[in-house]
Amino acid sequence: MSSAPHIPVLKEPVLALFEPLGEGVVVDCTAGYGGHARALLERFSQIRYIGIDQDPVAIAYCQEHLADFGDRVQLRRGAFSEVLPTLLREPLVAVLADLGVSSLQLDDADRGFGFDSPVLDMRMDSHRPKSAADVINHYSEAELAHIFGLYGEEPQAKKMAALIARHRPFFSAKALSGLVEAHFKRGRIHPATRIFQAVRIEVNDELGEIERLLDALEKLARPGLKVGVIAFHSLEDRLIKDRFRLWAQRCICPPQSWRCECGGDRAKGKLLTKKPLVATDQEIAQNPRSRSAKLRGFQFTRSADGS
Ligand SMILES: C[S@@+](CC[C@H](N)C(=O)[O-])C[C@H]1O[C@@H](n2cnc3c(N)ncnc32)[C@H](O)[C@@H]1O
Repeated sequence: MSSAPHIPVLKEPVLALFEPLGEGVVVDCTAGYGGHARALLERFSQIRYIGIDQDPVAIAYCQEHLADFGDRVQLRRGAFSEVLPTLLREPLVAVLADLGVSSLQLDDADRGFGFDSPVLDMRMDSHRPKSAADVINHYSEAELAHIFGLYGEEPQAKKMAALIARHRPFFSAKALSGLVEAHFKRGRIHPATRIFQAVRIEVNDELGEIERLLDALEKLARPGLKVGVIAFHSLEDRLIKDRFRLWAQRCICPPQSWRCECGGDRAKGKLLTKKPLVATDQEIAQNPRSRSAKLRGFQFTRSADGS
């Protein structure tokens, strides 16, 4: 493939969020198909780029697609929560994370993310121990109902879990989505959309990864470092919003305190976005996936040790 098959969401807002950017390294936690990578490397000629992805297919693609930038580009395969802490010595100026799956992963029938897929997998990293088939076929009915409700925010979680438990085992996404479709009314979206999201989050421990990403960023903090995170559903966005707000808090005294004893100067930095940035109608028309994207930004003003 010679051109980028994945349209980067909120490309211009990401570039505007990072502008101006000093000389140094930009880490892209979710290199994917190099869409943001190319935009960043072209716009900021003084930066080096380190791209992380846990999907070997994405890394191989970026290796080829970004070859024209030579040694300005380094790629690392692995979970961002594991790779980020190894970058402590790099002169970091910005970190980007564009969460979730790429459209190529979604569209590749052999990965098991789509409703019509002949497999039931959903692992972004094929080395992960647990696949979607393991979750669907081996979790108890109560556990399924729990993850469908929690990660899918599916109102009919219990009924869907009971139906699936009665008809398993399943060996393909197609059989699973077909069963749900036969028993639940199709609205604006496929009735299995929310439970597919829930299983994907469970298989890839997506929320745990975000928590660990935020923990790692706290340790990488240094004055001037900018962070941009794009989330695609409310569970992800809430984790980011809450942590950014906590970082921006000037007073960290417990709420029951009579008066401030921490000095009122404890903010790690400032919010770059009071409200999340979202796609314009024009972008949504070109790239429907951008509809649910929310970009939040933060800039550290202190180092991890508080200095
Ligand atoms: C939405 S795509 C990123 C697209 C990219 N920004 C672009 O412009 O092409 C998300 C990518 O992040 C990767 N990914 C998701 N969670 C990850 C994690 N915890 N660690 C490393 N990579 C992850 C996925 O494999 C996928 O390739």
